[in-house]
Amino acid sequence: MKILVTGGAGFIGSHTLVELNAAGHETVVVDNLCNSDRKALDRVAELVGHEIPFNEVDIRDREGLSHVMEAHHFDACIHFAGLKAVGESVEKPWEYYENNIGGTLVLLDVMRHHGCKNIVFSSSATVYGDPAIIPITEACPKGHCTNPYGQTKSMLEDIMMDMQRADKEWNIVLLRYFNPIGAHPSGRIGENPNGIPNNLMPYVTQVAVGKRPELGVFGDDYPTSDGTGVRDYIHVVDLAKGHVAALKAIERHCGCAIYNLGTGKGYSVLDVVKTFEKVNGIKIPYSIKQRRAGDIATCYSDPTKAEKELGWKAQYGLEEMCRDSWNWQRNNPNGY
Ligand code: NAD
Ligand code: WQD
Repeated sequence: MKILVTGGAGFIGSHTLVELNAAGHETVVVDNLCNSDRKALDRVAELVGHEIPFNEVDIRDREGLSHVMEAHHFDACIHFAGLKAVGESVEKPWEYYENNIGGTLVLLDVMRHHGCKNIVFSSSATVYGDPAIIPITEACPKGHCTNPYGQTKSMLEDIMMDMQRADKEWNIVLLRYFNPIGAHPSGRIGENPNGIPNNLMPYVTQVAVGKRPELGVFGDDYPTSDGTGVRDYIHVVDLAKGHVAALKAIERHCGCAIYNLGTGKGYSVLDVVKTFEKVNGIKIPYSIKQRRAGDIATCYSDPTKAEKELGWKAQYGLEEMCRDSWNWQRNNPNGY
């Protein structure tokens, strides 16, 4: 298939480009580079053996996007472009709604005007809020999102489902990612956060590389095995392959389909720290801090629907995730 990849220069987008090309798909990237580096696409080109057509375009730019859609005949879009920092979204709600919702509305409109009504959307386990059921199945009701970022994902899911209800030509696959970490095993592409990392694994790797003195563990009094928060970490290469598998749902005209992409296993913050230390032979100093506002105790998936319907199952475990995160950081201490 010929795929428009929005946000393709980012963390998950760049890994997905590698897997899409390995599976024989043709890809064209649109990204405004607001949270990524053009070099990521050079590294992807190196891994796949050819250039990836790239357009430095903002998805809110209707004219720019139309120009790209006119130049190609896309079978589907995989839509990663968006702002994703939870804390920043609390400080700048308008910017998050305008970029994520405004941008996606423009994208959907330009797509339908060009007769491309197939989309795979990056949603998030955050839409479950504090989940009513653990492990979380797709039937679990959506919960209250405590921040504007999560609201944008939940609202965009609703908008796309309404559009599909009104126009059955649309095929919409909503992928709810759990906690993506790791990097391509080559160490050539990986996560490249700006400033102080918000997420656990990039913080751990920056402590390991000597950029930060210690990790703050946000709370040790949760109702979990060791008191620290439990999450479903998924290797970004597995996640990337989940997008290739999701195209199968589009091929069989799924209408609207929702899939959890996780491993089904929950690990605590201290499990991650200990596994990282063991696999990589590096000590990670840490101290216990206050709980972080908006955090929940436990969140992990039941990923059986994706296995049954898409034939997709995560292959990598926490050890490989820790190994590959470190391999990326060690080889690229300052990112790209
Ligand atoms: P990322 O920031 O690395 O990638 C997002 C890309 O989108 C960046 O390259 C950025 O420059 C681009 N972008 C942002 N706004 C744009 C705009 N208006 N026009 C064009 N490009 C724009 O993030 P990621 O971790 O790769 O996440 C990809 C998607 O998956 C996002 O939608 C994110 O919300 C979602 N998601 C991420 C996680 C996670 O933990 N990383 C979890 C669940 C869902
Ligand atoms: C994991 C665990 C923290 C940092 C977020 C978004 C979610 C999704 C994925 C996009 C928690 C603890 C963290 C640190 C710590 N993103 N932690 N010290 O919060 O599960 O999910 O990213 O959609 O929407 O909310 O991920 O990596 O921030 O935290 O102790 O310095 O690590 O409290 O228990 P989270 P995370």
